[in-house]
Amino acid sequence: MKNILIGVSGGIAAYKSANIISMLKKKGYNVKVIMTKNATNIISPLTLETLSRNRVYVDMWDEKPHYEVEHISLSDWADLVLIAPATYNIVGKIANGIADDMLTTVISATEKPTFFALAMNVKMYENPILKENIEKLKKYGYKFIEADEGLLACNYVAKGRLKDEKEIVDEIERFFLYSEIENYSNLLSGKKVLVSSGRTREDIDPVRYVTNNSSGKMGYSLAQAAVDLGADVTLVSGPTELKEPSSLKKFIRVNSAEQMYQEINREFKDTDIFISCAAVADYKPKEYHNEKIKKAEGNLIIEFVRNKDILFEMGQIKEKQFLVGFAAETNDIKENALKKLRKKNLDMIVANSAFNMSSNENAIEIIKKDETSQEFSQKSKQELAYEILKVVANEINNKNKNNK
Ligand code: CTP
Repeated sequence: MKNILIGVSGGIAAYKSANIISMLKKKGYNVKVIMTKNATNIISPLTLETLSRNRVYVDMWDEKPHYEVEHISLSDWADLVLIAPATYNIVGKIANGIADDMLTTVISATEKPTFFALAMNVKMYENPILKENIEKLKKYGYKFIEADEGLLACNYVAKGRLKDEKEIVDEIERFFLYSEIENYSNLLSGKKVLVSSGRTREDIDPVRYVTNNSSGKMGYSLAQAAVDLGADVTLVSGPTELKEPSSLKKFIRVNSAEQMYQEINREFKDTDIFISCAAVADYKPKEYHNEKIKKAEGNLIIEFVRNKDILFEMGQIKEKQFLVGFAAETNDIKENALKKLRKKNLDMIVANSAFNMSSNENAIEIIKKDETSQEFSQKSKQELAYEILKVVANEINNKNKNNK
């Protein structure tokens, strides 16, 4: 498992580093911690030592005599360095070549990927000096996790709050995943990828609707992975709580299946690869009630009518486009998926269990047009996204070779 070196600098968010360390440990990473002296006023080294199950480093000079140069051995040990929280001060120091304590010395001495998770007062966050320092550090390959908006310690509601700990951990994990597939980073360059994701929502009246369990995690992971692999990505998303993936070409939010159809249909012509990951409602209420339906004696019967099958429609009009469908099944997964592959004129279908719709992990079977298939055991949806796109890219290359 990977080694992560956490740097904790002296912002009020330093207490949140405890959560980050605990999450990383639970996931099996090895964690060592360096704190600045100021950080120790906010959270005790003992807490972080207990959570990381390793000695916490603060002072360069409180060492007993030993034979290793600690700042070198720590940076050799680390696969990645994460400074969380990273204050205005620490960014400024590193950007200006200052190494006057253990943390800044280690950061200056390391060649390992280094992330700064920013957190500070909003005025400091907006200070052009910080912006210049960040730009300078980015040029040297340092990475930044932007702060969120929220209630700050200084009582402002503004940008400057440390990003949610889980999102920071996700970003680090995504980086590891991505580095493993770095060789593939141009795999989809120049390709226009359209992804549909999440559930749809079919309104009954102003306060009621019909929907399903889909979280959108698979579609969002696919969109993000396609961006990482160099594609121009348009994501059409049904309702979800997930954050928009970074660096999309276009992000379109919809509610109903009909709206999703309109958007997909508009984008489709200019698409090379369409991945239909959305759990589109097959039916919608026949009538929408403009006023809230009042309860009455007896049962309520709502008539449902069919929605368009978006993927089927695209299969009918496809020219150059490579179509990937998903089949979420509760039973006879492969047989049902095969039927959908044929009926919807797809190039590939990803068969999976409908019970995994809202979870973070999934196991899938990818079935290609020639009906050969490949199984992928339980993995995170992020990892699966890369696997799926690798197969897609491979198929497109083979298709192009055969057409030459
Ligand atoms: N799909 C779609 N439009 C619909 C229904 C499904 O585009 N109205 C797409 C999904 O995005 C997915 C594939 O078709 O890629 C299969 O969806 P799924 O819900 O598994 O199957 P259905 O075709 O709806 O069939 P059934 O519900 O009977 O299993």
